Amino acid sequence: MAENMIATRSLGVGAEGVKDQYADGKAAKVWEVFIGDKNSRTQNYKNFLVGLLRDKGCRRILDVACGTGIDSIMLLEEGFEVVSVDASDKMLKYALKARWNRRKEAAFDKWIIEEANWLTLYDDIEDIVGEGFDAVICLGNSFAHLLDSFGDQREQKQALRNFEKCVKPGGFLLIDHRNYDSIIDTGKTATKCIYYNPKHTTDIRTSVLYVSGRPALVTLDYLIDLKSDDEKSDIIYPEECISEFRLSYYPHRLKVFTEMLEKAFGENSKYRLYGDFKVLEQIESPNFYIHVVEKYSTYF
Ligand SMILES: C[S@@+](CC[C@H](N)C(=O)[O-])C[C@H]1O[C@@H](n2cnc3c(N)ncnc32)[C@H](O)[C@@H]1O
Repeated sequence: MAENMIATRSLGVGAEGVKDQYADGKAAKVWEVFIGDKNSRTQNYKNFLVGLLRDKGCRRILDVACGTGIDSIMLLEEGFEVVSVDASDKMLKYALKARWNRRKEAAFDKWIIEEANWLTLYDDIEDIVGEGFDAVICLGNSFAHLLDSFGDQREQKQALRNFEKCVKPGGFLLIDHRNYDSIIDTGKTATKCIYYNPKHTTDIRTSVLYVSGRPALVTLDYLIDLKSDDEKSDIIYPEECISEFRLSYYPHRLKVFTEMLEKAFGENSKYRLYGDFKVLEQIESPNFYIHVVEKYSTYF
């Protein structure tokens, strides 16, 4: 619905099937600079994710929004078995390159990377899912890329149902989104956050589109300063020092998103919510919410 209302605004480059906002390669090219060095994704974030997965005995992980492979690579390096999927071949290109470069390491040799779309995820990778993954992760504000084309969130619900089918009973889903309640209320997006290296992000220009009085689309224009990079990277920089890319998101209200998640996983599953990877009591207005769902198992 929202998409049709803003024919004059570019959401990125459209593709057949799922809309791949990364298809022009702009974001993919500077993604590593935007994120910061892979090894220095903040320690908190790494500690939280790896700590939780180890604590729960998870071994086999499905990363459903692997992008350039940042989270997947971190998990492989930490000894997890990882299957990574993404809809954008422009993003996957970097993950495939990393796998090739490190193919002599057993974990990377076994790393499965597939192109898949959340709307058809289970069918796309049914043979790999088997009895389900110990954990499915969808991190980095990825899920909000799925826009509400019909105005009733049917596609988001379908994607969550597919995630649920990929999690084994007793397994986990970790899924996050920016604090859209705050973005909608303030019209601003923080440049500093748990995932990304604020050193290079000079601005995130924020537009909120309302349709019939309801916030229906958030468009973020990221301005990335490449010249202050003192880290090693194999990215070929464009001549200009500022790179700009635009991404659009569905602005999930926390309450609505939580309800949608509860519907997909059922009332017997367990739900926990974190803010910037801390328990909510420790953080007033987080930039990111992270939902952890433990899928119901008759063995509970
Ligand atoms: C913001 S990037 C995050 C990548 C990575 N998790 C990170 O934090 O760096 C979001 C990713 O979600 C993927 N994506 C968006 N919609 C998708 C869909 N319907 N199916 C599969 N992947 C999708 C995009 O292609 C993109 O690579």
